[in-house]
Amino acid sequence: MTIPSPLLTTNARSADIMARARGRFPGGVNSPVRAFRGVGGEPFVAARGKGARVWDADGNEYIDYVLSWGPLVLGHAPDVVLDEVARVMQLGTSFGMPTEREVELADMIAARMPHMEMVRFTSSGTEAAMSIARLARAVTKREYILKFEGCYHGHADAFLVKAGSGVATLGLPDSPGVPEALAKLTLTCAYNDLEAVERIAREVPLAAIMLEPVVGNGGYIEPTAPFIPGLRRIADETGALLVFDEVMTGFRIAYGGAAERFGVTPDLTALGKVIGGGLPVAAYGGSRAFMEHIAPTGPVYQAGTLSGNPLAMAGGLATLRALTR
Ligand SMILES: Cc1ncc(COP(=O)(O)O)c(C=O)c1O
Repeated sequence: MTIPSPLLTTNARSADIMARARGRFPGGVNSPVRAFRGVGGEPFVAARGKGARVWDADGNEYIDYVLSWGPLVLGHAPDVVLDEVARVMQLGTSFGMPTEREVELADMIAARMPHMEMVRFTSSGTEAAMSIARLARAVTKREYILKFEGCYHGHADAFLVKAGSGVATLGLPDSPGVPEALAKLTLTCAYNDLEAVERIAREVPLAAIMLEPVVGNGGYIEPTAPFIPGLRRIADETGALLVFDEVMTGFRIAYGGAAERFGVTPDLTALGKVIGGGLPVAAYGGSRAFMEHIAPTGPVYQAGTLSGNPLAMAGGLATLRALTR
């Protein structure tokens, strides 16, 4: 029996493009997972996608289980997104001024997640998570952050850290270039280990306890029933902020995200992926009281030339409207 496999098809053009790419980009890619190192084999070069299918530069067709690592909740190139982005593009691609579409997308997020009373749009999940760390530190006037092994919050220095077990263990950077002094401020413990969290939170003044409410980046790990309510209690008792990184789970695990699914309201939330429908959008937000610490109402600086970009907002609005329908 012949098993249809991309490995049996021609891929001369993909191979040629990748050879050129390796001369221009580290590993031939602009984000490491695209190099296929984790799965083996040669990367193919995507040429187009529609629905659940993607075609490579040699014309081979694949069922796409990756879907851009999360944003394409409607599949590739849904007409509703293409039409809206094409329409909005005619009006201008970037303004450096406020636009109504930003308010509409923020309204839509708040309608599904009432705890996202105010948001700030960014262009990547990394920016959103990084900005949350800054805000949580500013609000609490504390410096330590607790994250969980296997949770990914983007590549900002504060999160590229794997602290050893135990309260007093100092964090060591996961990547060269992350200053050790900064890495020491990020502690980690095992996901679902409420006792460890309790111990750390009572010994170390934490600015934030941050987690993926369902871990997508360390395989698929669900929280045990007591875990997320327990984190809420510990955060309340110790003065830390509870942060949900819903870049992956937001608009995917429930209409109102993890807060609805688990019945626990976080202090701050990061969103990304789906809220741009395949265009570069992420956001962080929470109550007005916290978010008004952000510039220009407050002193915590964070900005972005393309934040709230009209095409990206259009992609997000079209996607969320379709999901809501
Ligand atoms: C949970 C989570 N947070 C943050 C990020 C970082 O987002 P971005 O790749 O847009 O910087 C990711 C990316 O996969 C993610 O899955």
